[in-house]
Amino acid sequence: MSFRIQPTPPARPNRCQLFGPGSRVALFEKMAASAADVINLDLEDSVAPSDKDSARNNVIEAINDIDWNTKHLSVRINGLDTPYWYRDVVEILERAGDRIDQIMIPKVGCAADIYAVDALVTAIERAKNRAKPIAFEVIIESAAGIAHVEEIAAASPRLQAMSLGAADFAASMGMQTTGIGGTQANYYMAHEGQKYWSDPWHWAQTAIVAACRTHGVLPVDGPFGDFSDDEGFIAQARRSATLGMVGKWAIHPKQIALANDVFTPSAEQVAEAREILAAMETAKTNGEGATVYKGRLVDIASIKQAEVIVKQSEIINGG
Ligand code: COA
Ligand code: MG
Repeated sequence: MSFRIQPTPPARPNRCQLFGPGSRVALFEKMAASAADVINLDLEDSVAPSDKDSARNNVIEAINDIDWNTKHLSVRINGLDTPYWYRDVVEILERAGDRIDQIMIPKVGCAADIYAVDALVTAIERAKNRAKPIAFEVIIESAAGIAHVEEIAAASPRLQAMSLGAADFAASMGMQTTGIGGTQANYYMAHEGQKYWSDPWHWAQTAIVAACRTHGVLPVDGPFGDFSDDEGFIAQARRSATLGMVGKWAIHPKQIALANDVFTPSAEQVAEAREILAAMETAKTNGEGATVYKGRLVDIASIKQAEVIVKQSEIINGG
C-alpha cells in the first residue's frame, strides 16, 4: 500500500462529450443547446485540409459569440505531426476570450508532446494576461500513446481528461478492423460450437483508467462510430462505466441521451450505495469492520466503492 493518497479528479460532470466539425457553423447553436456536459469543437480530423483556416476562425467566433451556458467548452486542435497545430494554439489563445475552458490534444505519444503545448500555452497566457488558465485533455489513439500512458497522465497539472480514440488506435496497432468501438466479428472465443464475443478495447481502456486514477485525471471512452446502433453504443458505454470511465463521446446528437443515461448512477444504485454506507456506520458503532448487507459481505472497502457512486451522483447534481 502506497502512502500516497490517490488524487481526486476534477469535480465536474463529463458524461457526454459532443463533437462537431469546426467547418459546420450551423451545428454550433445546436451543440450549445444540447444536453452534453462537454462540447468539443473540432479542428482536427472532421475538418478537410482546405478548411483548416476557416474552421479555426469559425470556432474562435463561436467561442466569443455563442451562449455556451454551463458547458465545459473544449477545442480539439490538430496533431503535433501537422503544420496546423501551433497556429491553432496561438490563434485560439490570442483571439478567443475566457469562455473557452480546454484544449484537446489528439494523438499524443509521450509526455513531451504535452510539455510542448504547455510551454506555448503558458507563454501566450502570460503575454496576453489571460486570467483563466486553459485546461488540457488528450486522446490516447496510438501504440506510443498507450505504451506511455502513465507518463502522459502525469505530464501537466493542466490535464483534466483522457479519452481512448478507437479508430486511430486500431490503425496504429495494426488491428484488423474498420469498426470504431464495439465488439468485432473476429474477436471471439469458441466453445462447443458457440461463439462468445469479447471486447478488443478492454486492455487499452483499463490501462487508461489506471493511469488516470493514479494522477487525478478523468478517464473517458471515445467515439462509437455506428450511430444507427443504439444497442451497441449502450453495451460499449456500460462496459466503460463498469471499468471506471466517467463518460463517452457523442459523434451524433442521438448518442447524448444514451451516454447521459449510462454514466448517471441510477436512483436504485445511489439508494443501495447509501444503504451500504449506513450498514457500515452501524457496524462501526458495534466495533465491527465487516457486516452482512442483503446476504453479502460488506467491509471497509465497500465504503469506498459506495462512495464512488454517491460522489458521482453528487457531482452530476451539482452537489
Ligand atoms: N451536434 C449537434 N447537432 C448535430 C450534430 C452534432 N454533431 N450532427 C448532426 N446534428 C443535427 C443536424 O443538424 C440535424 O438537425 P435538424 O434536425 O435541426 O436538421 C439533426 O442533428 C440530425 O442530423 P443528421 O441529418 O442525422 O446528421 P448529419 O447527416 O447532418 O450529420 C454527421 C451526421 C455524423 C456527419 C454529424 O453528426 C457530425 O459531423 N458529427 C460529428 C463528427 C465529428 O466531429 N467527428 C470528430 C470526432 S470523432
Ligand atoms: Mg483520432
